[in-house]
Amino acid sequence: MRIKMVAGNWKMNKNLQEGIALATELKEALQQNAPKCAVVIGTPFIHLASVAQIIKDSPIRLAAENCADKVSGAYTGEVSAEMVRSTGAEYCILGHSERRAYYHEDYDILKEKVLLALQNGLKPIFCIGEVKEEREAGKQNEVVRAQLEGSVFNLNAEEWKNITLAYEPVWAIGTGLTATPAQAQEMHAYIRSLIAEKYGKQAAEDTTILYGGSCNAKNAAELFANPDVDGGLIGGASLKAPDFCTIIAAR
Ligand code: 13P
Repeated sequence: MRIKMVAGNWKMNKNLQEGIALATELKEALQQNAPKCAVVIGTPFIHLASVAQIIKDSPIRLAAENCADKVSGAYTGEVSAEMVRSTGAEYCILGHSERRAYYHEDYDILKEKVLLALQNGLKPIFCIGEVKEEREAGKQNEVVRAQLEGSVFNLNAEEWKNITLAYEPVWAIGTGLTATPAQAQEMHAYIRSLIAEKYGKQAAEDTTILYGGSCNAKNAAELFANPDVDGGLIGGASLKAPDFCTIIAAR
């Protein structure tokens, strides 16, 4: 049985004190209302060690939003997968469209990052999704297939077990334009069929595929009602504990 999950991606929001306050609020809220799914929060690097302490006796798991494509050494400003893991983080968001678009992370860079994350005991939450023009041209399947083939379908079956996917149509991120439940289901089923082709039916059944892109407290339930939508990767709505808790409760 695959894991159902709601994951937050804080992006570049919250200073350290605000981040600690948000993690504390979320932990306390989930003590009142125990989640029925896995809960992960993805925070900026500088928050990781502090947030790890706050959530250590809670069901919340921790993710970084990125890691370096190099092992260690003279790469000023970079943070390695090993460093991320040493904070207590268990997951690493990789391939986010903002990293692809603004920091030019291509298939090969992402392939390296995924391998380094896995080698260091981190579970990648690997993001894929098409931009608006690609959807309008009917190319979304092609794009998503290329993203998978370019960066994660090189993994072996054992490695694949540690992968969580997030389908995030770029046109839906931060825009208030959510994919309809039918659009999400159609793409998630397609992604699962690609996994089945590559790793077999059981592996496809066991892979968690999250939806991301303007998923919020109001629309989460109808998105999660789809058989192939295993949860959400939540941006803006993960920055408010009550909203994030409503989304968790919808899963
Ligand atoms: P929003 O929920 O703010 O649209 O962001 C989604 C996202 O990019 C999560 O990684």
